Amino acid sequence: MTTAFITGATSGIGRAIAIALSDAGYDVYAVGRSQAALKELQAERPGILPIAVDVADREALESVLADLTIDVLINNAGIMPPLGNFADMTIADIDTTLEVNLSAAILLTRLVVPQMRERQSGHILFTGSTAGHAAYSNIAVYSATKAAISGFAAALRADLSPSGIRVTEIVAGRVETQLYKDILDTEARAAMYAGKVVQPDDVARMVVAVLALPAWADVTRFDIMPTWPTSPSGTK
Ligand SMILES: NC(=O)c1ccc[n+]([C@@H]2O[C@H](COP(=O)([O-])OP(=O)(O)OC[C@H]3O[C@@H](n4cnc5c(N)ncnc54)[C@H](OP(=O)(O)O)[C@@H]3O)[C@@H](O)[C@H]2O)c1
Repeated sequence: MTTAFITGATSGIGRAIAIALSDAGYDVYAVGRSQAALKELQAERPGILPIAVDVADREALESVLADLTIDVLINNAGIMPPLGNFADMTIADIDTTLEVNLSAAILLTRLVVPQMRERQSGHILFTGSTAGHAAYSNIAVYSATKAAISGFAAALRADLSPSGIRVTEIVAGRVETQLYKDILDTEARAAMYAGKVVQPDDVARMVVAVLALPAWADVTRFDIMPTWPTSPSGTK
């Protein structure tokens, strides 16, 4: 049985990936902080193994991973800090964004790669963003974390590819999730997702397809964006 460890599996893209991989026959470890959301997920797919942990809690992550065999690691947990000019951003929001979106993914990867290298196989995916590849106003630190994830994924692949480990960066554009739930009101979010917009399931289907390729084929990155721009400015 192949195991998949997915962070940010309580909502949005990560939840859809957890369900899709469970349906595809993976043993899924679903990671998130919300106990209620993990319970719901498990009620929907009883085979999924829930793990309630904050990815910013290093010690907790280390102890969770101590006894697990992981074939597929999906570094997906992420937050969008309050939108606004960088000059007005709080230091606390800067710290949390760096911690959750970047440091936790790097640490988690470090905890998992030795066992993958020993087995000479494995697949690590990162949920990056178009914001890591193009400039948008009001999200400078979020963009920095996603650009860093992209750079890390590429360099990591150079290190791990000789050991048979694949690395994929998911470059997501606008996907209808809860990412903005704490920072935009319902009306603004409805406007953001008006029209045709990518759904978490669409991303999950791509992930299943990428993982299903033979071990010698590494999809290094895929971009998934709405067909039509949905915001009034036609940007992100
Ligand atoms: N939606 C988009 O348009 C879009 C575009 C590009 C990239 N992305 C990226 O996609 C990824 C998933 O986001 P989403 O859009 O699916 O948003 P979402 O619905 O808000 O899901 C975010 C997930 O991250 C988890 N999370 C956040 N902080 C955490 C922490 N400290 N510890 C553990 N888990 C934590 C949340 O779980 P708990 O709250 O239960 O902890 C939740 O499961 C993120 O990396 C995001 O940057 C999204």
